[in-house]
Order: sequence, then C-alpha cells, then structure tokens
Amino acid sequence: MSETFPIRTVHTVTDLRAVVSGWKADGETVGFVPTMGALHAGHISLVDIAKSRATKTVASVFVNPKQFAPGEDFGAYPRTLPDDARKLAEAGCNLLYAPNGPEMYPDGFASSVHVGGPSEGLETDFRPHFFDGVATVVTKLFAQVRPDIAVFGEKDYQQLLVVKRLAADLDLGVEIVPGPVMREADGLAMSSRNVYLSAADRQRAVRLNALLFACAEALETGERIADTLKTARIVAESAFDLVDYVEVRCADTLAALPGPVLDRPARVLAAVKLGTTRLIDNVAANPV
Ligand code: PAJ
Repeated sequence: MSETFPIRTVHTVTDLRAVVSGWKADGETVGFVPTMGALHAGHISLVDIAKSRATKTVASVFVNPKQFAPGEDFGAYPRTLPDDARKLAEAGCNLLYAPNGPEMYPDGFASSVHVGGPSEGLETDFRPHFFDGVATVVTKLFAQVRPDIAVFGEKDYQQLLVVKRLAADLDLGVEIVPGPVMREADGLAMSSRNVYLSAADRQRAVRLNALLFACAEALETGERIADTLKTARIVAESAFDLVDYVEVRCADTLAALPGPVLDRPARVLAAVKLGTTRLIDNVAANPV
C-alpha cells in the first residue's frame, strides 16, 4: 500500500481484496469506476454517480494494453497517476486501484473474453481488437473488485452496451449504471485523448458534436434517416481528415433502424480523425 497519494491506493489484487472484504464485512456496498487515468470531469462525474449509489467507491487506473492494437497510442497514452489520485481524493473516492501490467497479465496469461451482439460493427469495424480487450479487462476488474454497481460513461456508448451485455450474459452480479456525456463549454466531449489535439485541431474538434446535435435535431423533426446521414457524411468529410463512421442506431441494441424516419430512441454516433487523433462522440435522438 502506498503512502504517496492523498487517497488510499493499492496496486495488487491481494491488497485490494483486503480493503474491499473489510468493507463488505461491515455491510458497506461498493461502487466502481474503471478508467485508464488522465482523469477529467467526465470521469469524476462517474465517481459522483457511484457515490450516490453505493456507500464506498473504488476507481481503477490501468492503461490496458489489450485494447490497443500495435501502432495505436498505448505508449503515448497520458499517464498522470499523482494528478489522478488528487482528483479522486477531492471527489471523495475511497480507494484507488492502480495495478501494474504484470499484476493484470502475468506471464502465461492466455484468456480472452468475447462479447457478440452490441460489439458488432461501428468501433469493431475500425478497431477489431478493441472490445475483446475491454471485455477481458473489465471481467478481471469486476472479479478483483467485486462491486455491487459499476458506472460507465455514455461517451463510449458502444462500450457501455457491450459491458451491460457482458455483465448480464456471464451473471457477474454487478449492476451497470450509465453516466451522461460530460462536455467542454463549447460542446466537445471530454476525453483523455483531447490533450493530443493541436490548437488548430482543438478548434476544428468542436464541429464533431455540432454535427451530431444537428443530425439529432433533423431526425427529431422527421427528416429521413438516409438523407440526414448523407448530409452528415458530406459535412464530416469536409470538416475532418478522416471519417470512420457516422451512423444512426437503435439506442438499446445498436441495431440498424428500420427507417425511413426515426420511430424509436436512437443514438447518432461518429468516429473521426483530426491529424492522428481519433475522436468518438454520440448523442441521443428521440422521436417527438
Ligand atoms: P477511459 O477512456 O479512461 O474511460 C473511463 C470511463 O469514463 C468510461 O466509462 C468512459 O465512457 C467514461 N468517460 C470518458 N469520457 C467521458 C465523458 N466526457 N463523459 C462521461 N463519461 C466519460 O473507457 C475506458 O477508459 C476503458 O475502455 C475501460 C472501461 C477503463 C477498460 O479499460
């Protein structure tokens, strides 16, 4: 156990279990917020939700190598543990779990968790390794922390549905609670990766949320889905360096909508690149 941080911090499963078992013996309930660190107000909003739903809150910081493909930003991903610890302490989080690589994936580690259903398409078309890496680490983290509830952000909407599916399918005994997308004053979704943006790209980045909200408004006023998407694609291709996808999907399952117009709760989702930085965002669109 480390004394360096102003929040109780553990780095091993053994130390984590000692703390959580003690709490459970005292009748406490445990809320959990898994993260990769470089914490911002979006992450902290999830800690606040966890605090409102459980008597003790654990946050984890682990940059999970299994969800990065070779050539992605695993090495460059911002690592700011002392700062993260301070923010968590200020937010009233009770425990920081910061395992190292070998603690999570010791020599000989050979398992992988695959979730079908909501993991198909969208992110998987561009990052095929991603959800197996997320599902594997989240399964391990749940087994290690044994939380009653865990909070995941709608910012990563497909990830939220994948984790819900995972927890239900494998009877993990943890309730998955969604948290709304936290945005900067100009609407850009907060992300640990926003620090990669140059000043010029940061200015351009705001066009992503503007486009998604414009799509949602058009759909809500009855525009044909195909027309909204056609325009959105043209706008996105002129605004960004690369457009992975702009899609409208059923909010519950991420299945395609039958169309021709919005007839059920949906999400408008997009992934684009500005320079080498990949941004994802999504907004709700509901029939009026
Ligand atoms: P990370 O990107 O650090 O995000 C941790 C949690 O914070 C996720 O549930 C994510 O959806 C949420 N989050 C990020 N930005 C947010 C914002 N602007 N508003 C609200 N919530 C936001 O997602 C991961 O890490 C990893 O894949 C993880 C689940 C930890 C597994 O490694």
